[in-house]
Amino acid sequence: MRETFSRVYGPAPGLRVFRGPGRVNLIGEHTDYNLGFVLPMALDMACFIATAPNADGKLRVRSEDLDQSREWAVADLAALQPAHDWGDYVAGVAQQVVRLGFDVAPANLLIRSTVPVGSGLSSSAALETSTALALLAGRPLEKIELVKLCRRAENEFVGMPCGIMDQYISVFGRERAAVKIDCRSLGHEMVHLPEGVEILAVNTMVKHELGQSAYRNRVRECAEAVAAIGSVASLRDVDVAMFEAAAERIEPVARKRARHVVTEDARVEDFMAASNRGDLKAMGELFVASHRSLQHDYEVSCEELDFLVDTALSVPGVFGARMTGGGFGGCTVNLVAPEAVAAFEGAIRDSYQARFGITPQVYRCKPSAGACEVK
Ligand code: GLA
Repeated sequence: MRETFSRVYGPAPGLRVFRGPGRVNLIGEHTDYNLGFVLPMALDMACFIATAPNADGKLRVRSEDLDQSREWAVADLAALQPAHDWGDYVAGVAQQVVRLGFDVAPANLLIRSTVPVGSGLSSSAALETSTALALLAGRPLEKIELVKLCRRAENEFVGMPCGIMDQYISVFGRERAAVKIDCRSLGHEMVHLPEGVEILAVNTMVKHELGQSAYRNRVRECAEAVAAIGSVASLRDVDVAMFEAAAERIEPVARKRARHVVTEDARVEDFMAASNRGDLKAMGELFVASHRSLQHDYEVSCEELDFLVDTALSVPGVFGARMTGGGFGGCTVNLVAPEAVAAFEGAIRDSYQARFGITPQVYRCKPSAGACEVK
């Protein structure tokens, strides 16, 4: 990146590089904003930001991948309004850094990301966490505050009412482990997956427009369910028995949404238990149950995701498959026996290509460390 940086901005002796990873969520989908459980892992696909100070009062940013630049006067950051493009992730984080009482020094930034955009692997959280580290430039901030800062940038500036999962795992990711996050206490524990399974993400290569508005609607529908159940603060407080007892009181759509969230929280716990006893079959079954719940109750899947899941399940050596992330496109995540990986990749590529005329990308997922400076 150093070479490109010099080409774009001129020589920069004080150049520093920061990295923020993307993520794949293993299970616990659409539970984070309901203050429940999620089980993501950080990926080795990441956003890298090279940064060096400038002397002209500007925060300047160039995306190598998009071949586009944005710039803002540092003095304007506090009152900036969104422009509704990729620059908002940088500007939103910068604004939150200022609001936290840190100054943002004039700097040139170069962004290079290996997280495929629109893939549901959190390219935006990767951009947010790497930006935050680059702007803080070594000034101390508790990791959890870094997470919250990045989420606020997305909630308040970008205008996406996301939960905390993506930013959290991008900061707290660990090598060789998935991380179970309690989205209410904001504590976490590491989960070491058993031997004998590969985690593969398969990219539908589509992102349906519906996603953004559907996400908002789901947040609202969950709140409606909470109100109908009464005497609880969030769906996190509702277990399956409580839900069943209250189901009649909840209007049908909100009832389906709540059923997904309540059963999904239980599946996260069950998946952890299955993983701890090395029960790959049970882990796979929980993946499938999660997908069906997202498909039929939460209604955030799509034809392409369902096709990838169904195709995966027909391949010998596949323990389970499900959509991962917000839905309406993006990726599936698959638990596959190591010896079946080559056949899996071949079968998935051929079937998807034949059905949709698109070649899906397949990524082998290795749990990776969270956001950091690259020395
Ligand atoms: C998106 C959001 C997350 C989470 C997932 C669904 O990735 O950014 O906060 O809600 O969808 O699990």
